Amino acid sequence: MAQIQEIKAQGMDTKKFIEEKVEEISSLVGQGTAINALSGGVDSSAVTMLGHRALGDRLKTYFIDNGIMRQGEPQKIVDIFKKLGVKVEITNAQDEFFRALKGLIDPGEKREAITQTFYKDVFGRLVTQSGAKHLLQGTILTDVDETVAGIKRQHNVFEQLGIDPQSTFGYKIIEPLIQLRKDGVRKVAEALSLPESIFNRMPFPGPALSARVIGEVTPEKINTVRIATRIVEEELSFTKAFQYMAILHNDRVTGMREGKRDFGLQIEIRCWDSVDARKATPTELSYETLKKLSGRMLSQVPGVVSVTYNIASKPPSTMEAI
Ligand code: XMP
Repeated sequence: MAQIQEIKAQGMDTKKFIEEKVEEISSLVGQGTAINALSGGVDSSAVTMLGHRALGDRLKTYFIDNGIMRQGEPQKIVDIFKKLGVKVEITNAQDEFFRALKGLIDPGEKREAITQTFYKDVFGRLVTQSGAKHLLQGTILTDVDETVAGIKRQHNVFEQLGIDPQSTFGYKIIEPLIQLRKDGVRKVAEALSLPESIFNRMPFPGPALSARVIGEVTPEKINTVRIATRIVEEELSFTKAFQYMAILHNDRVTGMREGKRDFGLQIEIRCWDSVDARKATPTELSYETLKKLSGRMLSQVPGVVSVTYNIASKPPSTMEAI
């Protein structure tokens, strides 16, 4: 497999990069059509804009509502892109994802179930319906590195693992951002006229909130971690940290409520300082901030009796808990 040539953000000719990628997408898709899934993260947003520049209406963009996204996310993203003149269709696939995740506790198996549901079931169906032969997606170099190194199987990496999407799923995958890391993608996204709320958006993993539930993923647990995520995002946006998150643990711990024993839930908060996600250190949050977070978790997330802040660095930690 040919080595992917990294393009570093520093010194990158962003305008030239965009022109080349638009040209590449046009020539690969030819007169055909392509689809892409927009999650609202900076990577898939940049790919959506590149694809639309290259193909116009011949790119159909979908938001896959997998039931494991953050609160209000599908409509919020559709509205942002509407303002940019890009039509995004929401596809409801909630039941499919929860069915695929049912009973799984191993992190690798959970990731694999999400990968298969996205690529085989949902995209397979959308490709058949639309007649598209290509899927555009925002894989970046860090996704490939960690997957190939066997650290974490990112949901969107195939060819580097020896999986041919054409024979496995029935369509070709185009990855215009594969030579970049997050900082490079942000530059490209800004140059593509995306709003700052997108080009500076905090990273969010493809497996979404299921990466933040340790153990089996159920609609109830997703609901719990979704509330905790909203609180963390509201309370920590001022930090400008690289990424912050709430994780729902599987183990329960003894607490008390209304004078009675309550075998309750544990939420772990992580907040990372990092440049490109390869290494990361926990942000030195003030005790005031931690107390505010803990107070809101205990009073606003049903069932929570324990709140912790992670103080390990990556490596050996990873940023997400699964
Ligand atoms: P880790 O947990 O590997 O995360 O230290 C590094 C960065 O990658 C994000 N991440 C993912 N992104 N699909 C993605 O698109 C995934 O499966 C995935 N897993 C982790 C994570 O949020 C962090 O920014």
